[in-house]
Formats: sequence, structure tokens, C-alpha cells
Amino acid sequence: MSLTIALTKGRLQKQTLALFDKAGIDVSFVDESNRKLTFISPAGELTFLLVKAADVTTYVRHGVADLGVVGKDVLIEHPGEYYELLDLGIGRCKFSVASTAGFELKDYKRKMIATKYPTVARQHFQKKGEDVEIIRIEGSVEIAPILGLADAIVDIVETGTTLRENGLQVYEDIMEISARMIANRAALKRKRTEISQLLATISQEIKENAL
Ligand code: PRP
Repeated sequence: MSLTIALTKGRLQKQTLALFDKAGIDVSFVDESNRKLTFISPAGELTFLLVKAADVTTYVRHGVADLGVVGKDVLIEHPGEYYELLDLGIGRCKFSVASTAGFELKDYKRKMIATKYPTVARQHFQKKGEDVEIIRIEGSVEIAPILGLADAIVDIVETGTTLRENGLQVYEDIMEISARMIANRAALKRKRTEISQLLATISQEIKENAL
């Protein structure tokens, strides 16, 4: 039997393949130097699909991919019919509220929050009992407070460079994020042995790395 795994294209794809490689899984058939989006191992037991983060959940939900690797941030925004199997410990970053210096959440005026992650933002401010207005934007969120579209943003912070270079700072952290392996429900039953083996191999590598 064979396994099809949807990977999040880009930075996370590289980190995932490096993790698989370190765990002793041959991924040398994935040629990252071209624009191909599917790679099948010579013996046909492993297929990788390179897709956009949010689409990883779609391919897994529909059973086109048995497994997927995607950030927890995406899983929160796109919950659905899949199992979250394993925290891979890669792609580590955090969700933070950020704004210009002097931003204060609690004053007289209802705050406008710009974000690509409305679910995360809504849940965070609801938990705090703060009534804010969420404005969804697709990217370059960091300029919203500078240009007056919003009072603050909720976004992913990895190194902090993007915030710094756009004159923003972290106001408060919301949660840590990392990449997860997810599985299609039917595949988990049908391909139990293959998936368990793969999980065991990768878990072992993650454990050894953490020591
Ligand atoms: C994310 C996030 C920030 C940046 C943070 O964007 O939205 O803009 O990374 O990283 P840093 O703290 O290391 O500067 P991403 O690079 O994923 O691109 P996107 O805006 O297209 O989502």
C-alpha cells in the first residue's frame, strides 16, 4: 500500500523533508529545484503533494491525501474532518497582538484589529472579555496600524523582524504554534499499519532531537 502526504509549500516543506530525511525516510526523489508539485518515490510507496497551507486540510479532508503537514495556525482557522496526529515540533512561531508603542487595549474607544486569522483573534479577545472589531485582511497586515486602518493586529511572529521593520511591537502573546501531522479519517483505518509505522519513525526522531 502507499501513502500520499500533502506538504505545506515553502519554508515548512523544507523543514518537513529535512525531518523525514533525518528520521531515515528516503525523500531524495523530491527535486525542489523545479516547479513540480507532485513527487512519487521510485517504488511508489510514498507520494508528496506540495500545496498551499489551507489547501492541505482540503486535500486531507477529501481523502486525496492520506496525511498532511500544516501549521496549527491553519488548523485553528480551518477546522474540519481530519485527525490531528502529531506535533512535529518544526515551524515554531507564535500568535501575538502587536501595535505601535503606547497602544492600550483598555481605554474608552472600541478597538479595530486587523488580521489574517479572524478566528484566533475573535477567540482571544472573547476570552479576555474585550469587545473589538475584527477586520480581515489577506496579508501585509503590519501596515494596518501605521496607516490607521486598525489599532492593532493579530499575526504570526517568528523572528520579530517584520514587526520591527514596520515600527510595531508585541503587545501580548496569544499562543505558541508549530506544525502538525493530520490524517484523513478513512485512511487512518485503511492504512493503519503504514501510518503507524511512519508516525513511530518520526516520533522517534523528534524524541531523539529533543534530548
Ligand atoms: C508571516 C507573518 C509575518 C511574518 C513574521 O508571514 O504574517 O508577516 O511571517 O515573521 P518574522 O517574525 O520572522 O518577521 P509569511 O512570511 O508567512 O507571509 P504571508 O504574509 O504571505 O503570510
